[in-house]
Order: sequence, then C-alpha cells, then structure tokens
Amino acid sequence: MILNQWYLACLPEELKIQNPLKRKIVGRDIVIFQNKKGEIGIIEDRCCHRNVNLSLGYIKDDCLKCAYHGWEYNINGECVHIPSFPEGEEIPKTARVEKYYAIIKHKAIWVWIGDEKMKNSTPIPPMVEMDEYPRVYNYHYLDADLQLVAESLIDAYHINHVHRDSIGTFMGNLHGEKVDFHLDVQDTYLTGEYNRHNEGTFWEKFYFGRDKEITTKIGFWFPGTSKLDINFRKRRMVIYEHFYQVDENKVCMLQITCWKKILTQFPMNFFAKSMMLKKSNTIVEEDLVFLENNKSTKTKTGKRDLLIKSDEVTFEFTKLWNRNLNNHRDDS
Ligand code: FES
Ligand SMILES: [Fe+2]
Repeated sequence: MILNQWYLACLPEELKIQNPLKRKIVGRDIVIFQNKKGEIGIIEDRCCHRNVNLSLGYIKDDCLKCAYHGWEYNINGECVHIPSFPEGEEIPKTARVEKYYAIIKHKAIWVWIGDEKMKNSTPIPPMVEMDEYPRVYNYHYLDADLQLVAESLIDAYHINHVHRDSIGTFMGNLHGEKVDFHLDVQDTYLTGEYNRHNEGTFWEKFYFGRDKEITTKIGFWFPGTSKLDINFRKRRMVIYEHFYQVDENKVCMLQITCWKKILTQFPMNFFAKSMMLKKSNTIVEEDLVFLENNKSTKTKTGKRDLLIKSDEVTFEFTKLWNRNLNNHRDDS
C-alpha cells in the first residue's frame, strides 16, 4: 500500500452530516472531526484508555469526547481532560493517540499518513474546478485491482459499451477511427485531450449544443486521482475519481461530479444536483461490474491483459504507474 501520499479523507460537507467521521485509508483506522472552533482533527480511531473507537464519541467544545468514560482529545490526539481524574493532577503524557496531518485544499480535507518528511514535497492533484463549481459526491467500496480502478475513468473506449444505455449518447462516442489523444506524460501525472462525436438525443443536443464534436479532457495523477472533463460549447461537466486501498482486499472510490452552467437557473442547484447524483451513481454502478469482474477472472485464470495498438492511453498510463510504483518502493 502506498503510504507517502496525500489522501482525500473527506469533504467538509460530510462533516455536516456526520461528525466525528470514521474512515479507513491504506490500512489505518482514522477518525475525522471538526471541533466547535471549526478546527479539523484527524487522529487514530482508538481511545487509549480501553481501546474503543473514538468515532463512537461526540464533539465537546474543542475536543472529541470518548463515549465510554468521557476522556477528551484535542485535534493533536492528546487527551486533555479525564472526568474521573482528581482535579489539579497532571494527565499522563502517554494519554494520547496518533495524530495525522490534515489540510484543506480544493474544498476537500486531505490527510497525510506516511513519512512526515515527505509531505511538503508531495503535491495534491490540481482539482481546481472543485474550488468554484457546484458538486455532488458518492462513495463506493469494491473488491478490485487498484490499477484498473485508476485507469477506468480515462479509458476512452469503454463508454460506447459499458455506458451505452446511460451516458453513451450524452458524452459522445468514438467509432473505429484513429484517435489522437494529445497525451502529455509527466513524471507523476498525465493529461490528454481528444474529440468525441456528438450523438446526443434531440433534447441533449437542444440543451448542450449541436456541435459535431465534444471536447473531452482526461487526466491521471499518481496514485489516486483521475479526471474526465466533458466540454460542451457553454456547459461543462467534470468528473473526478479519488481512490485508495482501504486494506489488502478493498478499494474505496470517491466520485465527485462538478458542473458549470447546467440547470443553474434553479435555486440551490436542486435539479442539477439530483440529476448529477443519479447520473454519477449509474456511471459508477456500470463500471463496478467490470472492475470487480476483471479481478476475479484474472485471479482465477492467471492470464495477463492483451493490449493492442489503439490502447495508447493504457500503455502510457501503465508505464507511468509502474515507474511511480517502483520509485515508491525505493522510498519506503
Ligand atoms: S475507553 Fe475511552 S474513555 Fe474509557
Ligand atoms: Fe466508466
């Protein structure tokens, strides 16, 4: 598992629904909380008193309070109050749990789990659309190969097939022609741009535009973020996927869909949000079938993939993935 990376722990709006919030990222059980001052803490999900999950607790002033005997932890994981302890006596220094670094970027809460020395030199993917566009999100947990999950959003050819009944027309399609993906491959990320033929329905074309081509941009930032950016003449839909190994067997995939000028005339983006949520849920459910099926079939048969000439994005992605994975192994 890749430890030395920033992982998107949660979105601030999740803490409005559930605070504290339990998560497991690369094998670490963590609890994310926001105290009454608005500060974010990410600490080990374990009370050092009798080893129960702190995520069972609740917020009290600046602290997360364990629900069992009421010990209170600050955002640094230090126990600062023990209700049963005689007043005036010093709380033992060992009464603390592991603290993780948290920062807010692109309106998301990121956590650093690995070697502290590397955190400042490791970039966070540039998910800039999240700074200004409305968004919806959903989480999925799957038994799949992380590498395949990472590539699924930038795979240009599966849309005609996997998503043929959902977004296959809306997103445009490719049909057996030679496609130039304009790939720009850097050390830790790649981006690309290509055109899909607009095959929208009458109403889709009416709303999104009748242009023959739909400009599609893709991106992947090692190891955990992919982007699919669909550009209509005036409107835009950007899908991000952030993913990581929960533990040895499970992958978490968070999909965040942002948009520009889609159904914005309605208050609070109500219709846009419900439409996008429905669409993005459908897209992921369609993908999940193949992502999970690939792992089980591969495990059973032990066969490797057969890549062909038109799998250019997959080739470049695989090289980038392997190179970074090797570098990562050297670091750890
Ligand atoms: S187990 Fe947390 S206070 Fe006792
Ligand atoms: Fe897909």
